[in-house]
Amino acid sequence: MPAIAESNSALRIADLDVAVPIAREWTVGRQRIVQVDCLEGMAALPAASIDVCVTSPPYNIGVAYKTYQDRMPRQAYLDWLGDVGRAIRRVLAPEGSFFLNVGGTAKDPWIATDAARAMGEGFVLQNHITWVKSLSIGDDTVGHFKPISSPRFLNQNHEAIFHFTKSGEVAIDRLAIGVPFKDKSNIARWGHTRDRRCGGNVWFIPYETVKSKAQKFDHPAGFPIALPLRCIRMHGMAQPRVLDPFLGAGTTLVAAEQLGAAGIGFEMDGDYAERAATRIG
Ligand SMILES: C[S@@+](CC[C@H](N)C(=O)[O-])C[C@H]1O[C@@H](n2cnc3c(N)ncnc32)[C@H](O)[C@@H]1O
Repeated sequence: MPAIAESNSALRIADLDVAVPIAREWTVGRQRIVQVDCLEGMAALPAASIDVCVTSPPYNIGVAYKTYQDRMPRQAYLDWLGDVGRAIRRVLAPEGSFFLNVGGTAKDPWIATDAARAMGEGFVLQNHITWVKSLSIGDDTVGHFKPISSPRFLNQNHEAIFHFTKSGEVAIDRLAIGVPFKDKSNIARWGHTRDRRCGGNVWFIPYETVKSKAQKFDHPAGFPIALPLRCIRMHGMAQPRVLDPFLGAGTTLVAAEQLGAAGIGFEMDGDYAERAATRIG
């Protein structure tokens, strides 16, 4: 288990070689968790210093975060996301990948698309992935979702993952997140060297069954670890430098640590940042 080192002065970020203005910072394994506004944190990173950014911003839908107020006037929210997207673009390497997870609500289904348009400006949308959280097949349901009580809306069982790149031509490792052939005769027939094919752009990633807030790391809006694991694997680079500017309870860096990659995460809330450090450790 990696040791946790905590500091409240500006530290060198070893793998990214940069001093970030911080409230507090933790070093765990190959990960740096910095309690700071993400725009300030990213301003301190060198240009093109990140290979993979996986993140999920607040959705402006009134989620009860500890510090952040998740209700802004819509245009102010989108303008702010535009600033964050430009900051990500600056720190991303030319062959880097920016995975943006956003979801809408029944009453505001366009917010996910609008947020992606704002953050993705200047990027090319290379892949558009649908994250399915829960699926009903026949009479059976697999996975979890928050039920809504409504005479007109269906429950919200999916979110989006936008895969942005600078050129739209970044080679990815489709088979790293691929699936075995159903019909094994296709392997020889189509000249494949191994039993693996692209699994496509619909990812069924259910949340784990939990019975307490603590099991969700006391954070109201985390994604499952399989999501950043898939994104980082799909980028296909050995030991990429990973960034999550909205770190929350640290899921992206837990994934980076599991994959042996160095990562940095920014989180404005000290409790969430501390929890992320503990979780990685
Ligand atoms: C949707 S949550 C991210 C959850 C994360 N993906 C996880 O799995 O735990 C968004 C997070 O962004 C944080 N946040 C909001 N504004 C921020 C800012 N300006 N700088 C850094 N963090 C911010 C919130 O406190 C919240 O924890």
